[in-house]
Amino acid sequence: MERTDCVASQLELDLIEAAAKRTSPLVKEKLAAYQSTKSSDDPLSPYRETLYGGHSADGKKIFFDRPDAQCVRCHRIKGIGGDVGPDLTHIGTEKPREYILESIILPNKQIAPGFESVTVSLKNDETYAGVLKSETPDQLVINTPQNGLMTIKKSDIQARAKSLSPMPEGMGQILSKQDIRNLVEYLSDLK
Ligand code: HEC
Repeated sequence: MERTDCVASQLELDLIEAAAKRTSPLVKEKLAAYQSTKSSDDPLSPYRETLYGGHSADGKKIFFDRPDAQCVRCHRIKGIGGDVGPDLTHIGTEKPREYILESIILPNKQIAPGFESVTVSLKNDETYAGVLKSETPDQLVINTPQNGLMTIKKSDIQARAKSLSPMPEGMGQILSKQDIRNLVEYLSDLK
């Protein structure tokens, strides 16, 4: 089903949550029929109703103030916040809502360029883990917590592995769907 920024998609989450509270068999049946239209092999499908209709001001509060989400510890918006993750000041211009939602729910699905973590084991038995900053056919530059920026020759590498995104998995459990919808609204308003 195609989703657009229309009134129906803005109200989708509210309708589903209201229907879930009702005891009427007819409403229950309709809700079950609706849920069964969702694709089971799309891990984002339970969150489709969070794409539109959030409250930007509430999303901003979650971003800056929610101690369990800690977005601001790693991301900067208009000069405030950390730099472990990408600056999100213009994320609403750079990325569509679907990408923003996916980044929150499934941080390992697509890693933002310049933020991929790698672990390299060298032929001399040293191992370094850090963020891949650049790569050429002959060498890698990684930013490691212990040694800062390091240039490593590919000919010295024994093995190389991607690590998980530093952004924590499980935001979908920590935050309610209303919270997620508010965050998506706030971030996609950042132009
Ligand atoms: C522990 C640090 C950390 C926390 C906490 C964190 N993030 Fe992230 N986030 C990252 C890193 C690192 C990346 C880049 C790697 C990736 O794409 O997964 C990222 C990527 C993103 C992106 C994609 C940015 C782009 O340009 O592609 C979005 C959007 C995002 N985070 C939103 C959030 C929100 C909203 C929260 C709070 C609910 C949050 N993050 C909490 C570290 C964090």
